[in-house]
Amino acid sequence: MKVLVTGSAGFIGNNLSEKLLNRGDEVIGIDNLNDYYDVTLKEARLDKIIIHNNFTEARINLEIEMLLLMYSKPTNQIVLLT
Ligand SMILES: NC(=O)c1ccc[n+]([C@@H]2O[C@H](COP(=O)([O-])OP(=O)(O)OC[C@H]3O[C@@H](n4cnc5c(N)ncnc54)[C@H](O)[C@@H]3O)[C@@H](O)[C@H]2O)c1
Repeated sequence: MKVLVTGSAGFIGNNLSEKLLNRGDEVIGIDNLNDYYDVTLKEARLDKIIIHNNFTEARINLEIEMLLLMYSKPTNQIVLLT
């Protein structure tokens, strides 16, 4: 399955992404790595999942860019955790 996860560097979105990737799903992860809390923590989370070939990182702000991405990479599921 191809899943678009927003908040993929966040606590829940990153855990979810990792589980999906480990079971063989393809994940497109959106996160702007905002500084609401320590950004190095978010970067460390991303380091864990970026090693998967079926992970696409989209470091973008969730606005019009999301719609453009959705059109260019159709998915089966969208999980919003921002
Ligand atoms: N953690 C909990 O116990 C809990 C409980 C209830 C509800 N929630 C909700 O679930 C969601 C995820 O929670 P979390 O703990 O993983 O939060 P988190 O802050 O760790 O993760 C959210 C991620 O979204 C990213 N983000 C925020 N705004 C963005 C934007 N405009 N564009 C792109 N990325 C953006 C942030 O950089 C962050 O990495 C939140 O909406 C939170 O309010 C969490």
